[in-house]
Amino acid sequence: MDLMRTKQLAKFAVPILSAFLLIYEVGNVYCATVHENSVDLHSLLDFKQGVNDPNGALRTWNISTHFCRWKGVNCSDARPWRVTGLNLTRKGLAGKISPSLGNLTSLDMLDLSYNNFDGPLPLLNRLQRLKFLNLKSNHLQGVIPDGLTNCTDLLFLDLSKNFLTGVIPPSIDSLSKLIGLRLGQNNLTGTIPTMLTNITTLQTLDLIYGQLTGKIPDELWQMPNIEELYLGGNNLSGGISQTFPNISSLQYLDLAINMLANTLPSNIGDALPNLVYISLAGNSFEGQIPSSLGNASGLFQIDLSSNNFNGQVPSSLGMLSGLIRLNVESNMLNASDNEGWDFFNALSNCRNLEQLSFTDNQLQGVIPNSVGNLSVNLQYLLMSENKLSGVVPPSIGNLTSLIELGLDANSLTGPIDEWIGKQENLTSLHLETNNFTGTIPLSLANLTKLTRLYLANNAFDGIVTPNLGRLQPLLELDLSNNNLQGSIPPELGNLKQLYILDLSSNKFSGAIPETLGQCQNLVILQMEQNVLTGNIPTTFTNLNSLSLLNLSHNALSGPLPAVLNDLKLLTKLDLSYNNFEGEIPRNGIFDNSTVVSLDGNAGLCGGAMTLRMRPCPVSHRAISVNRLIKILIPIFGFMSLILLIYFLLLGKKRSRRTSLSEPSFGEHFEKVSYNDLAQATRDFSEFNLIGRGSYGSVYRGKLKESKIEVAVKVFDLEMHGAERSFMSECEALRSIQHRNLLSIRTACSTGDNTGRVFKALVFDYMPNGNLDMWLHHKEDEKTPNYLNLTQRISIAVNIADALDYLHHDCGRTIVHSDLKPSNILLDDDMNALLGDFGIARLYLDSQSTYQGSVSTIGLKGTIGYIPPEYGGGGHASTLGDVYSFGIMLLEIFTGKRPTDPMFTDGLDIVSFVDRNFPDQIFQVIDVRLKEECNNLSRDNMVSEDTIYQLLVSLLQVALSCTRPSPSERLNMKQAATKIHAINASLHGWNEKKYASVDQ
Ligand SMILES: *[C@@H]1O[C@H](CO)[C@@H](O)[C@H](O)[C@H]1NC(C)=O
Repeated sequence: MDLMRTKQLAKFAVPILSAFLLIYEVGNVYCATVHENSVDLHSLLDFKQGVNDPNGALRTWNISTHFCRWKGVNCSDARPWRVTGLNLTRKGLAGKISPSLGNLTSLDMLDLSYNNFDGPLPLLNRLQRLKFLNLKSNHLQGVIPDGLTNCTDLLFLDLSKNFLTGVIPPSIDSLSKLIGLRLGQNNLTGTIPTMLTNITTLQTLDLIYGQLTGKIPDELWQMPNIEELYLGGNNLSGGISQTFPNISSLQYLDLAINMLANTLPSNIGDALPNLVYISLAGNSFEGQIPSSLGNASGLFQIDLSSNNFNGQVPSSLGMLSGLIRLNVESNMLNASDNEGWDFFNALSNCRNLEQLSFTDNQLQGVIPNSVGNLSVNLQYLLMSENKLSGVVPPSIGNLTSLIELGLDANSLTGPIDEWIGKQENLTSLHLETNNFTGTIPLSLANLTKLTRLYLANNAFDGIVTPNLGRLQPLLELDLSNNNLQGSIPPELGNLKQLYILDLSSNKFSGAIPETLGQCQNLVILQMEQNVLTGNIPTTFTNLNSLSLLNLSHNALSGPLPAVLNDLKLLTKLDLSYNNFEGEIPRNGIFDNSTVVSLDGNAGLCGGAMTLRMRPCPVSHRAISVNRLIKILIPIFGFMSLILLIYFLLLGKKRSRRTSLSEPSFGEHFEKVSYNDLAQATRDFSEFNLIGRGSYGSVYRGKLKESKIEVAVKVFDLEMHGAERSFMSECEALRSIQHRNLLSIRTACSTGDNTGRVFKALVFDYMPNGNLDMWLHHKEDEKTPNYLNLTQRISIAVNIADALDYLHHDCGRTIVHSDLKPSNILLDDDMNALLGDFGIARLYLDSQSTYQGSVSTIGLKGTIGYIPPEYGGGGHASTLGDVYSFGIMLLEIFTGKRPTDPMFTDGLDIVSFVDRNFPDQIFQVIDVRLKEECNNLSRDNMVSEDTIYQLLVSLLQVALSCTRPSPSERLNMKQAATKIHAINASLHGWNEKKYASVDQ
């Protein structure tokens, strides 16, 4: 065969072969033997089409494999192959749920829970075989369609944790086989439809945290199979039917935080013989606690707190041998004689009891000796704010598992040394505001886990023993208002964690120990109303956190130490009524008459005019200009911080009421009180402080009830604009949800225990901190590895997605206004979440991109990330966010902050990159990233050229976002699309990389 013919053959063969392949492909789609049911196939493909799938969960969904093999798809066991199950829970999917799912008529299980689907619920009325439908924890909106009630085979329906509105469809009773119904944590309104109670098969009903009103239908108490009833956190009113039928199936009953009132049916415990959990907290129930509760012998948790219950606590509760938690705090329960205290003796039988709170009731008289017979597992014993008197029985020392003991605000007397000292697990001891006498026992030093020791407002006398210095974990020590005397032991200087030390109103004498200068975490130091002598130790210059220093009404003398001017955070300095003398230092805290009190020091003179002290005799040392500058600059720079801390801490000073956390209810919902948050964050201790922002501080903490680690953002309402900031953030976060936005766990807007308004937001704690820490950690710090290329790009994708959503996809336009790496938080898996909506702006007109309706007054942001047009009086705009985003991208890939000292003389981070773009970009990227890239190409994982292209594309996006003129910038949707494309190309070669490893 000659060459010519071969060539000709090839010419024909190639197209023929292609045609074959084409036919084969098409065959794959339509050929009945491969994909028997084309309706199911197309429904699934339609569904996939509408889904945004950032993690590639639906990667296997392509027509070259039979759909029955696709991930998440289950099919019937025999032909014809039909889709019977679709399980895509927790796959990070977003977008709308395609109505074509409604064509999968053989479906019996659909689980799309824990994704980010939005839009309305799909119409599923044709799914006659559906037994299990779970759409929990998405962003679904709109009403529950009536059509859903056509799925009459449904056994489980879970639509909880969405944004559904409207009423519960009255036709819900068509779902007559339903076993579990969960509609909680939506915005459902209206009443609980009586028809619902016709579903006699129902075992679980969860309607928590909605806006349901009206009465609980009496018929609900007649549902024959109901086991779990969660109605907490609504606006339900009325009472519970007094003719309470027997519901032997009911185990969990949660009616907490509603507006329910009246007395409880007296037979409640007999009628609910299998009850294990009851929470009625936060209602207005009144009358006696029914003694029949003691007959529900399986009860492990009873929470009746914050109601109006009166009378005696029934001693029948002692029959509940499985009881773990009993909380009746904040009621009007009384005990005035032996009979009234019977319940307390009876509780000795509850050998599993761990938490017991009677705080804020009317218990009267002596604590029974039987306190020592309470469960050895008891961890919380709270009897604060009652009318207890007499001596505390020493047998209380038997309770060696105690973590917190609250006996404060009673009238208890006698010494405490007979019983304190054995409870070596105590972390909080509240004995303040009683009439305790005697010395502070040596044995207190055994309580080496103690973080809070409150002995204030008693009649303790004698000296403070040096061994208190052994209580190293101590955070708060309040010995004020006793008769303590002698000198202050220098050993207190060993308490390095201490942030509140109050020794005021005693008879302490001698000098203030220099060692106190070692307590560098001190925020509040009060020693007023003693007889201290000498001067203020110069070591106090080390107390960098100090906000309040009160040494008034002592006998201190000498010149006022200028070192106090070094305490940048000091906001209240009271040195009045001492014997200080000489000229008052100028140009620091002493110039601020609203902060400093110097009255009653006859020898002082001069100082700022506003102090109105007598002038000093002429001629004294002049203050150098240098010093002036040194002092002024930091003072003004720190002004806002100072105010912040001052109000934060002073506001809480007197709020020591001990309390078991406010009622929590349902399985997922938390309602938190001021006390819970105070407890979680160790009274908002500096120790737990993880950040400060313009309107408040963020603390790390652990909610006691749920044991969940949280970040608590406390708004400082004294700061101008903070209230608005709280509202703004609440509003922004209330209405939106996205996997890359840090969402609110709960909010708390209440009074603290001094009555001061307190507002806080609670977020999930992000264990990996923020992006700033990762980009700029120092070599010697213990932070994990630096961020690699893949992580950096994935973070960029996450942020872009979050902003794209805020700007374009959440129904209205939200401008974040304060984008910077410290507002980007990283979760367990290093996914980035955008946080801090304190100055977010909402635009009602979703069209507006540049022109907002918000004035520039109060426009804020962070230097380095603020777009140039804001400086010129521009409006906050989405394109302003785009600019900040661009700056952040540059920071992520160059490793340089926009405020790096190298950026001076007209060079900024943008021009720095721009000048080297595109040829010299390896000159500007983060050295560690460069190293990684070098390694990648050296190991032949990927060619140098590919990496180069990738970095060029990334920096190109960043530069296109940071153009000086807003109109020249990309919008967020464009930027996000580009970054997604770059990410996809990166994953392209990652897959190759793994493939080559596999071989
Ligand atoms: C869906 O899959 C998850 C595990 O991926 C499983 O825990 C869950 O029970 C499944 N849902 C149903 C309804 O089977």
